Amino acid sequence: MTTGTNTLRYLMCPPTHYEVDYIINPWMEGNVHRSSRERAVEQWEALRQILGSIADVGLVEAQMGVPDLVFTANAGLVLGQNVVLSRFFHPERQAEEPYFRAWFESQGYTVYDLPSKLTFEGAGDALFDREGRWLWAGYGFRSALESHPFLAKYFDIEVLSLRLIDSRFYHLDTCFCPLAEGYLLYYPAAFNDISNRLIEARVSPDKRITIGEPDAVYFACNAVNVERTVIVNRVTAELRSRLEGCGFSVRETPLDEFLKAGGAAKCLTLRLTEPVRNLEMPPVQVATRLVELRGHLLDSGMMTEVMDLVLKNGASFQIQDFTVGTRRQDASVARLLVTGTTAEGLEGVLTELIDRGAVLPEDATADAELQTVSQFGVAPQEFFVTNIYPTEVRIGGRWVRVDNQRMDGAIVVDPVHLSARCALLRDVQVGEQVVCGVEGIRTLHQKKHQEREEFTFMGSGVSSERRVELVVEQVAWQLRRTRERGGKTIVVAGPVVIHTGGGGHLATLIREGYIKALLGGNAIAVHDLEQAFHGTSLGVDLQRGVSVQGGHRHHLKTINLIRACGGIAQAVEQGLLRSGIFYECVRKEIPFALAGSIRDDGPLPETQMDLLKAQTEYAELIEGAEMILMLSSMLHSIGVGNMTPAGVKMVCVDINPAVVTKLADRGSVESVGVVTDVGLFLSLLVRQLHHLEGDSSAA
Ligand code: ARG
Repeated sequence: MTTGTNTLRYLMCPPTHYEVDYIINPWMEGNVHRSSRERAVEQWEALRQILGSIADVGLVEAQMGVPDLVFTANAGLVLGQNVVLSRFFHPERQAEEPYFRAWFESQGYTVYDLPSKLTFEGAGDALFDREGRWLWAGYGFRSALESHPFLAKYFDIEVLSLRLIDSRFYHLDTCFCPLAEGYLLYYPAAFNDISNRLIEARVSPDKRITIGEPDAVYFACNAVNVERTVIVNRVTAELRSRLEGCGFSVRETPLDEFLKAGGAAKCLTLRLTEPVRNLEMPPVQVATRLVELRGHLLDSGMMTEVMDLVLKNGASFQIQDFTVGTRRQDASVARLLVTGTTAEGLEGVLTELIDRGAVLPEDATADAELQTVSQFGVAPQEFFVTNIYPTEVRIGGRWVRVDNQRMDGAIVVDPVHLSARCALLRDVQVGEQVVCGVEGIRTLHQKKHQEREEFTFMGSGVSSERRVELVVEQVAWQLRRTRERGGKTIVVAGPVVIHTGGGGHLATLIREGYIKALLGGNAIAVHDLEQAFHGTSLGVDLQRGVSVQGGHRHHLKTINLIRACGGIAQAVEQGLLRSGIFYECVRKEIPFALAGSIRDDGPLPETQMDLLKAQTEYAELIEGAEMILMLSSMLHSIGVGNMTPAGVKMVCVDINPAVVTKLADRGSVESVGVVTDVGLFLSLLVRQLHHLEGDSSAA
């Protein structure tokens, strides 16, 4: 497309009917009917004079009842003979649209209309790079992010979307002004972090002229730039010298009458001749995707969570429809159009939404994208990061369940046998096919209602002290039921279990067959053994609660003794170890895994110091577990949580609420946290179990 002429042209509108009549931005507050028409005319004339000396100025006729028509920057966005007409956000300004349309049509422009409902406020929110390389487009207050792909399409240009976050700078041109030679004058605080990063990625530091609040509030960025001249309401001496240092000459012309309506030099003009370089058609950056959510969206807080998540990621959404279930058991269905500023950004948001159970409806036909591993232990960079929820991937038109579900892995697909499994990054092999992107992936997130009722206290997260007994009752009930059915309950425990006097109780649970595997570190074992040998834990006599003379040596003597025997099992065989948690494990043949760490003393022969092997040992013992008791061990519990799929009941007990929150907060209903002393918890639990047994033997 060509401009037809080489002369520079601007469009203005005389302030014949200018007025502050209503309030649609913070500047207008307190200024209704407070502007002087006379001064406005004077200031506007002065601006026109200056501009007229360097460019052609066309005029659109002023109209009664549309006072903001003077701000012609908002007429639309012009490139060559094409214009995308503005669709104003506020009804007050929508009345201007027909006047601007008529003017463009009378001048022979091709007028593009955006789809209805998509707001866009013209060159106020869309500024061409002065070299014509791309279009900067603002959103957040007036223009919809969803309008940006249309601009890209109509003008065949790359659009870079910037989110405005300060309501005083509601249009992009109030805080952002591309200048000649690739310079950029802007107010960083008006944009969110992602947008600032984008600006910094495109404009090199020597070309960025950032301003502070004192200049911003006088609309220093609302400047008209023609070659090396910058026409502006007012700048501080400091900014003037910086601009001059970059080779610009600054012409100040007072426009305070228009500031009362939230506009200045740039707002009062529309550049009709924009430079555009003929480039290869760049990819459209903004990307949109339809997303569907189903389930108890309101009572579970899912809807709010999803909307927050979208906005937090710098994306935006429009609700297409939302059917709310009317009875408590009824599910709701929502369909959202999610738009990201880049295809990559959108993909990030979609991944998180999929983690929360969203499906991409057009997916019905799309297969998951597979890429081949080319380096051992390294997945293709776009790999889909797995979560704890049951996941399915579409291969050859069929949904295939992913085996070995766990979080933080990749999905490896065998397209021949139509199977898929979660794999750790370090395990992927050259030639394997890994699921990438977000197409053809769905997670089954929503619990069935029934499942929710079953472990009722679970849904409520962290319990207060008063509720400990209630939790104990339910855990006891669950433990018995699982044992009866031959199911699997496992324990992750830290040394605090011993310090708090819970060792004997945990030993009882093992002896009585409630626990099928034990996971921990070196410490829980050493403390348990020390107690068995010396009656102390780190030198403290647990019966009397006082430290024993020289008791701190017990710890190392214990380690040494076990090492002398060759291991815990050997110590039992040799008759040296006769009580405690690990004694019961050996006797009942309950497998345990001890994961080593940098601070371990000894370690015991059983402690696995190769952490990759330790992770594998843990994973094997976790397999098939229905319930996991996490007893005062943050590190090992988090490790276990990462390996465990959704659906496994988890009970996390710790005296520190922060630990409990961290562990219980998996977003799945089956986790519960109990803030209490773990020794007390175990003693209540054992008492409750014996009570239940008494009941049943009496019956
Ligand atoms: N009162 C007008 C509004 O709030 C001012 C428009 C300023 N124009 C601009 N391009 N920033 O819409």
